[in-house]
Amino acid sequence: IHNLALENSLLNQFVLELRDVEMQKDTLRFRKNIERIGEVLGYELSKTLAYETKMVQTPLGTKKMTVPEKELVLCSILRAGLPLHQGLLNYFDKAENAFISAYRDHKNDDDDFEVVVNYLAAPSLQNKILILADPMLATGKTLENTFKAMKKHGIPKQIHIVSVIGSKQGVAYAKEVFPENTHLWIAAIDEELSNRGYIIPGLGDAGDLSYG
Ligand code: PRP
Repeated sequence: IHNLALENSLLNQFVLELRDVEMQKDTLRFRKNIERIGEVLGYELSKTLAYETKMVQTPLGTKKMTVPEKELVLCSILRAGLPLHQGLLNYFDKAENAFISAYRDHKNDDDDFEVVVNYLAAPSLQNKILILADPMLATGKTLENTFKAMKKHGIPKQIHIVSVIGSKQGVAYAKEVFPENTHLWIAAIDEELSNRGYIIPGLGDAGDLSYG
C-alpha cells in the first residue's frame, strides 16, 4: 500500500479541492484534479516498474538511457475512472487500454447492494502489467468484481490499483481479495464507511460529481 497522503506534497492540494463542497461545483476543475492525481500516482508507480536500456541518437551523439517496460494495460472502471484513466494515459501514452463498467444495484432502496458488471472491452492481460483505475475504494466490491470479470482475458504478472480516496475497510478488503503481486497507489485513506457504503468524510460520489 502506497498511501501518498502520508507525504507532504502538492497531491494534498488536489485532494483538498476535490473534497471541498464549494469547489466541487466547478466540475471541470473536479475532473481535472482527478486527472492530475492520475498523473502524479502514475509517475510514482512508474518508479517501481522494470526498466530496459536503450541507446538514443541525438543530433550530436548517442546516449544510453533506461525506459520502463512496455507491456502495460490501463483499465478504468466506468464512469468515475475516466478522468483518472486520462491522467494515467497522459504519462503512459503507449499503454493498451481496457474499459469495464460497474454499478451498485440497490435493491428496494435498502442499504444492501450488489455490484453489477455488464460491459468489458480488454486486450489480453496475460503476463502484462495491469493498472486498474477507480478513484473511489469504498467497500472494495467494485474492484473485486471487476477483477474477477477480467480474469477471462488472462492473468497479469503484476497489478497496480490506482485510486484517489479509500476507506480503511475498503483498503483492507482489497488487500484480502487481490493476489500478492498487487500494489495500491492512493492519495487519501479515510477512517469511516457509512452503512450505505460511502466514505466518510470522503468527497461524495466521484461519478456524479464528474458527470452529473
Ligand atoms: C462508485 C465509485 C467506485 C465504486 C466504489 O461507483 O466510482 O467505482 O463506487 O465503491 P465500492 O468500493 O464500495 O465498490 P458508482 O457505482 O457510484 O458508479 P459511477 O462511477 O458510475 O458513479
